Amino acid sequence: MILKEHFNSLALAWIVLAIVLLPLLLKVRAPYGRHASAGWGPSIDNRLGWFIMELPSLVLITALFLSGNNWELNIIWIFFLLWFIHYFNRIFIYPFRTRTKGKKIPLLVVFLAMFFNLVNGFLNGYWLGYMAGSPTSLARISRSVPCFVGQSTEQGAGVAAAADLPQIAGADLPQIAGADLQIRAIFGYYYDTWLTDPRFIIGISLFILGFVINQVSDNHLIHLRNGKKSGYSIPHHPLFSYISCPNFAGEIIEWTGFAIMTWCLPALSFAVWTAVNLIPRALHHHRWYGEQFPNYPAKRKAVIPFIL
Ligand SMILES: NC(=O)c1ccc[n+]([C@@H]2O[C@H](COP(=O)([O-])OP(=O)(O)OC[C@H]3O[C@@H](n4cnc5c(N)ncnc54)[C@H](OP(=O)(O)O)[C@@H]3O)[C@@H](O)[C@H]2O)c1
Repeated sequence: MILKEHFNSLALAWIVLAIVLLPLLLKVRAPYGRHASAGWGPSIDNRLGWFIMELPSLVLITALFLSGNNWELNIIWIFFLLWFIHYFNRIFIYPFRTRTKGKKIPLLVVFLAMFFNLVNGFLNGYWLGYMAGSPTSLARISRSVPCFVGQSTEQGAGVAAAADLPQIAGADLPQIAGADLQIRAIFGYYYDTWLTDPRFIIGISLFILGFVINQVSDNHLIHLRNGKKSGYSIPHHPLFSYISCPNFAGEIIEWTGFAIMTWCLPALSFAVWTAVNLIPRALHHHRWYGEQFPNYPAKRKAVIPFIL
């Protein structure tokens, strides 16, 4: 079991790494899709690459969540299922719907993305499976840890104490005199009232909004190659009225929502990484559209309407 302090340090270091890499990502165009170019080493089929590089996110979160302590908590099932739906689509449906037959993706991109998904899947899966919790899980633990709530190992002792806990997710538990410090440090807490907490409501609303924007705009891009078309054309769906990359904006909104609704460092790190990955890619796409299409709509920005 990893101590919560160590786990949080790892998540913080992961966030710092994303921020440190931002200038590099602003400079170097990720060499896949329209920015593919020679000189990035061997490459593999684009759809297979997407499947392989995204797979760890789903495998790790599922394995860690189901092997952990929290699979009986409804609230964490909600977090897990949202993640699962997103990645099920990204791995098993999205790549095979794209009109990229015959296109290649460099193995380097696949390996780097896999590494990102391994760390990201581990951090979020470990949080959901082992770090997050609720008063119920606290009570369950207390029954197996002697003197956990300053009493003997009597059944139910933890339930009474847990009922008095502050209603803050991830809060420490100062009221529990004599609680085992290590156990206290390990578990974050989601209370039954978390479902009506503004963070949950705002977060899940943003997640759903972002998911829909991402899906609708990816769908539009895929359909731009209807028929026998294989090149690029200007997207004209209303979501593209103000920005060139609403699919990326949707993805950023989605994971920002997830970070707000789960209120934990691993999800925050994913939101930061998503922005650090996709804002530079949106800027590169936007510039590319301007270079390729002289009639490209001038009022469009890259990823944030009227701003960026
Ligand atoms: N969370 C993260 O960190 C992260 C990172 C990367 C991607 N993603 C998500 O993964 C998805 C795909 O990313 P991506 O970078 O491949 O997106 P993209 O560059 O916008 O491409 C999406 C798909 O549409 C095609 N396409 C794009 N613009 C087109 C146009 N003007 N005309 C015709 N076809 C066009 C692309 O073909 P080509 O491949 O031939 O260009 C590709 O198949 C997005 O939903 C994105 O949000 C998430």
